[in-house]
Amino acid sequence: MRPGAPEVGTTDRLAEGVVHLRAVLTLQEQVALVERCRALMEGPSGGYVPRVRGGGKMHVRMTCLGRHWNARTYTYESIRSDHDQQPVLPLPEDLAQLAARLARQAGFSVLPDVALVTWYGPEGRMGLHQDKDEHPETIAAGVPIVSISLGDTARFQFGGMTRRSPVETILLESGDAFVFGGPARLRYHGVSRILPGTGPGVLGLAGRFNLTFRKY
Ligand code: SIN
Ligand code: MN
Repeated sequence: MRPGAPEVGTTDRLAEGVVHLRAVLTLQEQVALVERCRALMEGPSGGYVPRVRGGGKMHVRMTCLGRHWNARTYTYESIRSDHDQQPVLPLPEDLAQLAARLARQAGFSVLPDVALVTWYGPEGRMGLHQDKDEHPETIAAGVPIVSISLGDTARFQFGGMTRRSPVETILLESGDAFVFGGPARLRYHGVSRILPGTGPGVLGLAGRFNLTFRKY
């Protein structure tokens, strides 16, 4: 949390369907989630650096729960066919419920069935993209994406409906959630950089975990 930032969560409604829940997770919740993320990254069907369609490597490590997002085909599947042929692990019920609670706080109703767990090292980043590989009905209904940030602060880029739309920078801090759905469901977004040394020391992270929950 920045010096001078409020201790308890505040809610920024940035546009219709775009809600930044600041400091919505307690430090205790963050510690527990970081432990889960670490275990998922290091366990079976754990984190790897995906290669995208053009053959380039992403600048993050990632693993999926519920369904695997294939970075080569931009489709969801049950086996990691772009990597090691391992099965995707299920999305634990308590994580799905946590995301549902955050969505509710943002004014949405959803029980997600997929999560992407992403690790950004100090040099981690993610280019501008849309989340548009979920079921067409889900996207058409504006069912939101729920994103949780843990560790170092991210410079999150939030754009519009085209790649060329103006982009605003939002600092996503540890314990924040960012929810976008409704008319904002297909807005472009990415992470331009991670700000080293900004996360709570007790988490022991030199980098950032992000969880994005989706409904397929
Ligand atoms: C994503 O768009 O998948 C990740 C966004 C983030 O790391 O905040
Ligand atoms: Mn995304």
